[in-house]
Amino acid sequence: MSWRALRPTRPAAIRFLLSSLLPALAFAAVAPSAEAQLKSSEAAYEAQRLAWDDSLPGPNQPIPFSHALHAGTYKIECLYCHSGTDRSRVAGVPSVQSCMGCHAQFGQDLEGVQILKKHWEEKKPVEWIQIHRLPEHVKFRHNRHVAAGLECQTCHGPVQEMHKVYLVPDTVFVNWMPAQKLEMGWCIHCHEAKKASIDCLTCHY
Ligand code: HEC
Ligand code: HEC
Ligand code: HEC
Ligand code: HEC
Ligand code: HEC
Repeated sequence: MSWRALRPTRPAAIRFLLSSLLPALAFAAVAPSAEAQLKSSEAAYEAQRLAWDDSLPGPNQPIPFSHALHAGTYKIECLYCHSGTDRSRVAGVPSVQSCMGCHAQFGQDLEGVQILKKHWEEKKPVEWIQIHRLPEHVKFRHNRHVAAGLECQTCHGPVQEMHKVYLVPDTVFVNWMPAQKLEMGWCIHCHEAKKASIDCLTCHY
């Protein structure tokens, strides 16, 4: 079965290929393939354009990478790329190598993938601009929150619809005082609601 034959229904075809090939791809050696010359979909070009659209909120990243396309349209699991989230302190962003697990096979005609390949060839990590950041004196563990059944979207908003990730505002009121996302009151507000600890040493060293 060739990809060319599947072109009219490309998104469905890729979705099928992704679901059947994902486990294999994760371990496959990164090698150029005959498919490398295939033209990418209109949707991919559009997503790439929007990921660098200055009128959308959030910083322009070094590579125009769209969550709406990868996590939305192609339904790649959040944890496939942010694999630390359920296990460790940091969620982390994926390595160049994990992107290349797919992009050695396709997307070579896209500018974003060309920038990615350049990093791969020069063995340089991508310097993604960090959006959510707590001060050093605060303890935060993704795994405890994921284990408690909280969705990523509860804290990060509908990332699967974003071409460009940004800090979605969230104002809560603690003792009639407003608190913004990532401020102490924001954490306390939910900890009180979910009966999680509000002991100072839970969140501070
Ligand atoms: C599981 C497979 C997979 C992984 C992993 C993956 N991609 Fe993609 N990527 C795709 C598919 C599928 C497309 C769309 C191709 C099409 O529609 O023709 C795409 C399109 C793109 C595009 C163009 C659209 C856009 O989002 O702007 C860029 C740039 C891109 N990928 C970068 C990356 C980067 C950077 C990584 C690693 C952080 C990555 N990709 C990881 C499958 C993947
Ligand atoms: C309870 C709220 C909450 C939930 C739920 C949550 N996050 Fe986070 N996330 C945060 C906070 C707070 C930070 C900033 C952490 C820091 O600076 O130490 C963050 C940071 C991140 C980062 C930046 C890199 C890093 O590790 O600091 C990524 C990526 C991320 N989250 C992805 C996810 C994904 C994927 C999920 C779902 C599996 C998720 N988050 C669930 C609150 C949350
Ligand atoms: C194909 C890989 C891939 C998938 C799938 C993916 N992400 Fe990401 N994510 C990235 C990359 C690369 C970045 C850094 C660039 C950016 O911000 O777009 C990132 C950044 C983020 C950030 C911002 C981190 C910061 O600096 O604060 C959050 C939050 C996040 N992702 C959440 C999610 C959630 C939630 C999902 C599932 C709905 C998801 N991601 C799916 C690759 C991925
Ligand atoms: C949307 C709700 C929500 C938000 C927002 C939230 N948390 Fe939590 N947090 C929880 C829940 C639920 C638990 C799990 C309690 C358990 O496992 O018994 C938890 C657990 C924790 C733990 C682990 C406690 C332990 O006993 O080890 C830490 C540390 C923590 N949160 C810090 C933070 C910080 C810092 C913030 C703000 C940046 C934050 N949380 C924001 C709901 C939230
Ligand atoms: C659920 C998590 C959580 C708990 C519990 C918590 N804090 Fe915090 N605290 C934070 C976060 C997150 C910040 C960083 C806020 C920011 O950068 O705006 C912070 C910041 C602070 C700061 C620095 C203030 C500033 O403006 O930067 C002090 C002081 C502080 N906390 C004291 C306490 C004390 C005292 C307690 C116990 C009564 C406590 N915290 C309990 C999450 C928590």
